[in-house]
Amino acid sequence: MLSYDIKDISLADAGRKRIEWADRDMPVLALIRKRFEEEKPLEGVRIAACLHVTTETANLMRTLVAGGAEVVLCASNPLSTQDDTAAALVKHYGVSVHAICGEDTETYYKHIDSAIDIKPQVTMDDGADLVSRIHSSRREFLEDIIGGMEETTTGVIRMAAMAADGELNYPVINVNDANTKHFFDNRYGTGQSTLDGVVRATNRLLAGRTLVVSGYGWCGRGLALRASGMGMKVIICEVDPLRALEAHMEGYRVMPAAEAAKECDVWITVTGDINVIDKPAFENMKSGAIICNSGHFNAEINIPYLEENCVSKEELKPLVVEYTMADGRKIILLAEGRLVNLSCAEGHPAEVMDMSFANQALCTEYIVKHAAELGPGCFDVPKEIDDGIAKLKLEALGVKIDTLTPEQEKYLTSWQMGTV
Ligand SMILES: NC(=O)c1ccc[n+]([C@@H]2O[C@H](COP(=O)([O-])OP(=O)(O)OC[C@H]3O[C@@H](n4cnc5c(N)ncnc54)[C@H](O)[C@@H]3O)[C@@H](O)[C@H]2O)c1
Repeated sequence: MLSYDIKDISLADAGRKRIEWADRDMPVLALIRKRFEEEKPLEGVRIAACLHVTTETANLMRTLVAGGAEVVLCASNPLSTQDDTAAALVKHYGVSVHAICGEDTETYYKHIDSAIDIKPQVTMDDGADLVSRIHSSRREFLEDIIGGMEETTTGVIRMAAMAADGELNYPVINVNDANTKHFFDNRYGTGQSTLDGVVRATNRLLAGRTLVVSGYGWCGRGLALRASGMGMKVIICEVDPLRALEAHMEGYRVMPAAEAAKECDVWITVTGDINVIDKPAFENMKSGAIICNSGHFNAEINIPYLEENCVSKEELKPLVVEYTMADGRKIILLAEGRLVNLSCAEGHPAEVMDMSFANQALCTEYIVKHAAELGPGCFDVPKEIDDGIAKLKLEALGVKIDTLTPEQEKYLTSWQMGTV
């Protein structure tokens, strides 16, 4: 039975056009959808999904419905919902949606609760708010759940912590850790869409400006790569010695946050950590600095510090707020410190989400078949799924590669032959 709490159902037709536009760049997911339509591997399965409500997610939801599932979708971030997409999902694609862009924290959790009300057998999470909600305050729903999937690094970390505490009651597949997910989505997707968010919010020229990136993981690497390609001078702040060394060898300057603050024109955090931009950095920060976050939660920038230590604040335009500090310096915060690529832009391009969501669709099918064998805990995406998606994506892109000859296969699996 369809249920929904969305901004405006009359946006549905505009949403459908954008969903179809995204679909053009999601050939792997389209192939899976076609097979799901024929085979119905998810017949009657109830799925609660807590994901960014974007056009790409809509194409994943269509795929699950094609497979026979009953799906309810809520947002994994209060600012990332595309209201036209939400409307189209309800009106045109038979998906229950509980998500409104700009919803407050109370509504955000109310919408998660509405998704849980479906009595899900499978959960699909991006950041683990759905799974942690079920395990903390909605435990009566645990008995129906056979398994789930987690989409992002922060969620994978939270799931691992739950499993280590013996608190995770069912198997969760770490979709984030598939090679066809984080190599591409986290790196190239975040790299491009985060800069897109900064540009759409500020319309500033990036060339010649200094960008500080906190966190040189998969997202940070992509961001630094794309920003330097656009002429930015990139400084990396890292806490992991190996990754700091890697950034140094790539040619970026590496330094502590408090030092980087003196030079930054733009600062983007992508760590998954808390208070990464904190008092020491704020005290040194160059006037006019634009700060934002592309890590999962709005905890990476110590916004309470800004609120408590500014003398005034002004909204320059939606999602762009300027804080004036006691000494007259201006600090400009984008998107309330929430994911800037999804709040100020449209999130990752469909082309990368094609692979991330192909993983989600195929892992849903896998968990429905294999949950009982797995038992509670965190699991990798099966290699055959990951490799299969890479092959299909290459085919869809028209990229051909060589294959090993029998001689090469033998050579690569033997030890007898050395110098020739
Ligand atoms: N914006 C998006 O659309 C998007 C997409 C994918 C992932 N994410 C999120 O982005 C974040 C990073 O993901 P990732 O895959 O790059 O993770 P990752 O684990 O590969 O990298 C995170 C890096 O941050 C570093 N770090 C941790 N604390 C730090 C600190 N205080 N200062 C400096 N560096 C610090 C870690 O050492 C690590 O190298 C996560 O929250 C993830 O969920 C966002």
